[in-house]
Amino acid sequence: MNGLNIGVIGAGLMGHGIAYLLAAAGHTVRIYDPSTQWRKSLGERLESARALLGGAPALLRRISAHDQLAPAMKDTAFVFEAAPEKLPLKQQLFADLEALTAPDTILASNSSAIPSTLIGENLKHRDRVVGTHFWNPPHLVPLVEVTQNEKTSDATVARTMTLLRDAGRNPVHVKKDIPGFVGNRLQHALKREAIALIAAGVCDAETIDEVVKSGFGARMAVLGPMEQTDLVGVDLTLDIQNTLMADLDRSTEPTPLIKSLVASGKFGMRSGEGFRKWTPQSADAVRARLRNFLAAQAKARI
Ligand SMILES: NC(=O)c1ccc[n+]([C@@H]2O[C@H](COP(=O)([O-])OP(=O)(O)OC[C@H]3O[C@@H](n4cnc5c(N)ncnc54)[C@H](O)[C@@H]3O)[C@@H](O)[C@H]2O)c1
Repeated sequence: MNGLNIGVIGAGLMGHGIAYLLAAAGHTVRIYDPSTQWRKSLGERLESARALLGGAPALLRRISAHDQLAPAMKDTAFVFEAAPEKLPLKQQLFADLEALTAPDTILASNSSAIPSTLIGENLKHRDRVVGTHFWNPPHLVPLVEVTQNEKTSDATVARTMTLLRDAGRNPVHVKKDIPGFVGNRLQHALKREAIALIAAGVCDAETIDEVVKSGFGARMAVLGPMEQTDLVGVDLTLDIQNTLMADLDRSTEPTPLIKSLVASGKFGMRSGEGFRKWTPQSADAVRARLRNFLAAQAKARI
């Protein structure tokens, strides 16, 4: 798919990256954002993304910012919503979109956690409402979870997957609209065990990070957990699970450790301490390391 008109709602962290990757794929992108401040800083943020990835300067001319929804959404084939994570706000935006777009315009929400079933529940044409969960930063991380709710048509999923694949993303089809989709469920299963190990005094937070980065994390970008299971043998995995499963943490709510950190203002890098201690310099070094790593991988894929 090439040369479509695409609407993006929200020019923030996610919206500007989504707009960039769609424009880089040859589409014309109109972004709606009511905030003057976010619209004003958009050009600079898009230019940073372009410079990081070495895109042609001309591609930024395919992106425009709008303070009104109607002109931004005119004649669009797709709309990607990346507005704040608040259900009433997203429901109102989708109601407005239904009135402003053709019945076959695909309406996609980038919500991290709100089911698209709820976001689109008051619409007449619910078959074209779909979840598209991009990962941050969306122009550098290739995965998009395309989540089908009970009303989403197969054709909507197929068109969305094609658009994203053609734009250099790796879309996956999530067949049920469940909290956390697939990626965040996997991440939080790991975090539940990590926090439980720290709380039980088995190891500290530095050790958790080292075990993941130097151990199984070192191969995870090229070997998924199911590939790894088949590589070592399903029978070996069964033997390990027979010993391990009964011992793993099975908390059904956030553990007291994480609640007490938040209650005492230990939010992580932005407050100087979370599970680990941070200076502005050490936090910036982590951010730079991550950005450079993701950019190198993204450039290798272009
Ligand atoms: N940040 C992440 O890592 C991440 C990852 C995946 C999904 N998401 C989801 O993406 C969405 C956007 O998150 P973000 O991190 O880009 O937030 P953000 O705060 O960076 O950006 C939100 C943007 O929406 C704009 N906005 C406010 N009210 C609006 C309205 N009524 N209509 C249109 N735009 C409006 C704001 O001005 C801002 O530019 C959320 O649903 C979030 O859960 C975020």
